Amino acid sequence: MAARHTLPKSGTYQIAPSILSADFGNLQSEIAQVVGAGVTMIHLDVMDGHFVPNITLGPVVVKWIRQWSDAFLDTHLMITNPEKYAEPFAKAGADLITFHIETVKDPIEFVKYLRGLGVQVGVTLNPATPAVSLDKIAPLCDMVLVMTVNPGFGAQAFMDAAAQKCRHIRQMVGSGVRIEVDGGIYADTIVKARDYGADTFVAGNAVFGQADRPAAIKSLMDALKERPHG
Ligand code: DX5
Ligand code: ZN
Repeated sequence: MAARHTLPKSGTYQIAPSILSADFGNLQSEIAQVVGAGVTMIHLDVMDGHFVPNITLGPVVVKWIRQWSDAFLDTHLMITNPEKYAEPFAKAGADLITFHIETVKDPIEFVKYLRGLGVQVGVTLNPATPAVSLDKIAPLCDMVLVMTVNPGFGAQAFMDAAAQKCRHIRQMVGSGVRIEVDGGIYADTIVKARDYGADTFVAGNAVFGQADRPAAIKSLMDALKERPHG
């Protein structure tokens, strides 16, 4: 297995393209294109048809991506019973595993278990789940993922009220933990999410839904540069 990567230092802005909107018939070149454009994190959306109404990819796909790419594999488990499946994803080469707070009975124990697998740890919450549900667990994680759409599908509209939970979460975790937003991120919403406290931005349709992926990544980064913190 390739050596594990660690998250870039918190505070630096990172775009994490979600392969959910990529061409799965050409996944290797899709990933190479965004890495060639300077991206260091790839967001992998794992869906099980139970926790969310869609099915996507399993450890076998992660294993292939690990062989092709040296990128940081940001693995978002939208599955019931992540306790059962975390290990195969870690063995396949995930660098960070994010679980949904709604799916785990003892999140503190689960974070310890994930660390024992040698991965970094993220926790996430659905738009309807209040930020306070993370007050004990968020400071123990490397990244908190704030869902800004209901998980299950790409290309949905950004939910501003959900994104505003970043403010509360930033107070919980301080500056040492990354806050990632996921869903409906484009040049306008990336700026809002950054202003609420996020520093890591999943972008599916805004990157892989565009013909020119390097230009799409640049326009997201330019939006952050051109519109200073509000
Ligand atoms: C939604 C997934 C997202 C999705 C984002 O359930 O967790 O990562 O790919 O897609 P966009 O950026 O198209 O909203
Ligand atoms: Zn995701």
